[in-house]
Amino acid sequence: MMANTIRFVLGGEIREVPVTDPTQTVLQWLRANRRPGTKEGCAEGDCGACTVVLGTRDPAAEGGIRYRAVNACIVFVPQLDGRQLITVEDLKLPGGALHPVQRALVDCHGSQCGFCTPGFVMSLFAEFHEGPQDPGRERLLDVLAGNLCRCTGYRPIVEAGMTMRRYGIGDAFDAARAQAAALLDGIRRTEDLTVTGAGRTFHAPRRLDRLARLFAVHPDATILAGGTDVGLWVTKQHRDLKTVISVSEVAGFAAVVERDGALQIGGGATYSDLLPVVDRHFPDFAALLRRLGSVQIRNSGTMGGNVANGSPIGDSMPALIALGTTVVLNHGGTRREMPLEDLYLDYKEQARVPGELVEALTIPLDVPGRQFATYKVSKRLDQDISAVCAAYAITLNPAGKVATARITYGGMAVTPRRAARTEASLRGRPWSLETVLGAYAALAEDFQPISDMRASAEYRSRIARNLLMRFYLETTGQAGRPAEATHA
Ligand SMILES: Cc1cc2nc3c(=O)[nH]c(=O)nc-3n(C[C@H](O)[C@H](O)[C@H](O)COP(=O)(O)OP(=O)(O)OC[C@H]3O[C@@H](n4cnc5c(N)ncnc54)[C@H](O)[C@@H]3O)c2cc1C
Ligand code: FES
Ligand code: FES
Repeated sequence: MMANTIRFVLGGEIREVPVTDPTQTVLQWLRANRRPGTKEGCAEGDCGACTVVLGTRDPAAEGGIRYRAVNACIVFVPQLDGRQLITVEDLKLPGGALHPVQRALVDCHGSQCGFCTPGFVMSLFAEFHEGPQDPGRERLLDVLAGNLCRCTGYRPIVEAGMTMRRYGIGDAFDAARAQAAALLDGIRRTEDLTVTGAGRTFHAPRRLDRLARLFAVHPDATILAGGTDVGLWVTKQHRDLKTVISVSEVAGFAAVVERDGALQIGGGATYSDLLPVVDRHFPDFAALLRRLGSVQIRNSGTMGGNVANGSPIGDSMPALIALGTTVVLNHGGTRREMPLEDLYLDYKEQARVPGELVEALTIPLDVPGRQFATYKVSKRLDQDISAVCAAYAITLNPAGKVATARITYGGMAVTPRRAARTEASLRGRPWSLETVLGAYAALAEDFQPISDMRASAEYRSRIARNLLMRFYLETTGQAGRPAEATHA
C-alpha cells in the first residue's frame, strides 16, 4: 500500500486514495472527484442534501454489511478507511434503469427542482436495505426527518417510500453484499492508521489502550467520534484541527451490553446502536433519542460525544443523570468513575483533565419500583434542539410517599443539572397534587434560566413546572403519554 493513503470500496471496487487534508469532508472529496450527485445544502448536518450510505463490516448484519445513511458534509475523508461508500451515482440498475427508490420518486411526483432528491434517494436506499418490508408512514417520517425539501412537499416523497418495494425488484446491492464484505475484509487494517496533510494529522487507533495513551500524550488533540459537533467546527467555524484522534475504529468501543444489573455503554456507541437496547428498558428515553437530530445524525453521533461535549441543551444527559448513570473516564490507562452529574462543573468546564477520555457509561437497571420519564420541548418535533429537556425518576415507599427523587433539567442552567431543592421538597411527602404544586417554589430557586433564540426565561420556567406536573399526572394515571413519546 502507498504511504499516506486510505482504502475504501466505491463503485464495487477498492479505491486507494491519497489523503491531502485529513479534515477534508467526504462531500468535498466527492464533488472534486466527479461525483457531483451528492449536493451541499447547509454543510452542517441539517438538510440531508449530502446524504450518502456507508457500508460497515458487521458479522451480525445481513450479508455481513450494515448500511447506514450519514451526512457526507460532516464526515472526514480518513473516516472512510475500511468502509464501503455508496452515492447516488451507484444506484442505477444494469442497462441504466432507475433504482426502485428513484422510480418510486418519479412515479409519486416526489421531485421538483431536484436539489434535495439525491439525499432523499440515499435515505430511502438505506431504508430499502435495512428497514422492514412494509415500513409504514410513521417510520418513514422518521427515516426522512433529516432530509429537507423546499419545493415538492413531503406527502409524495413519503408515498414514494411506501411504494418503493411494490415493484418487486431488488438491486445489485442485494446480490453483492457478500462480495462487498469480502472486499472490506481484504482492506481491513490491523495496524493503527495515521495520515497527514495540509499540516494536520489524523490518527485512528485500533485498541483502547493505544487510544487512551495517544490522547494522554496529545491532550490538545481533538477526539473525533461521530463528528456531529467536530465536523461543524471545520465546516462552519473554519477551525484548524492540527491533530485529530478518531475513536471509531477502536475494537469494542461501541459495545452496548447488559451486565451485573446495569447497562454498559461504550463511549463510541452511536445513538442508533443504543436505541434498540434502551427501547427495551426505557421506552421513554428511546422515544426521546428518536427525536435527537435525524437518522443520519443518530447513525454518526455517539453517547460519548454527547456527554463529552456536555452542552447545556444536550438531550441525553438529563435522562442519564436522572437514571443514576456513572461515567468511566480514562487517562492514559488510569480509570476513574464518577456520577455523571459530577462531570459538569460550569459552562464548558468539566471535571475531566486534559487528555482524559469518556470511556463508558453505566446505567443501573436494578432499581425496584423506579418510575421514570423524560421529555423534550422544542419548536419542531424532529431535528431540533431542545428549549428544555427534563427527566424524572422517583420511587415511592409502601405508604405512597416519595422515597427517592432524581430530577434533572437541560436548557435551564449552564450545565445539565439536578434540581436539588425540588428533589428535597418532594422527599418524604405523599406523591400528590399538593406536593407537586408545593415543589414549584423550590424549582424556582433551583433554576433561573436565560432568554435566548429558543425560548424566553419565563417560558422555560413555566415549561419546567408543567413538565413536573405532567410527570405527576402520568405516573398517577391521570394523563396518558402523548403521541410523540411513542412515535416509532
Ligand atoms: C443537525 C444536527 C442535529 C443535532 N441535534 C441534536 C439534538 O437534537 N440533541 C442533542 O443533544 N444534540 C444534537 N446535536 C449535537 C450532536 O449530535 C451531539 O452533541 C453529539 O452527541 C456529539 O457526538 P459525536 O459523536 O458526533 O461527537 P463529536 O462531534 O465527534 O465530538 C463532540 C465533542 O466530544 C469530544 N469527544 C467525543 N467523544 C469523546 C470521548 N469518547 N471522550 C472524550 N471526548 C470525546 C470531541 O472531542 C468533541 O469535543 C445535533 C447535531 C447536528 C449536526
Ligand atoms: S449539506 Fe446539509 S446535511 Fe450536509
Ligand atoms: S425538489 Fe426542490 S428542494 Fe426538494
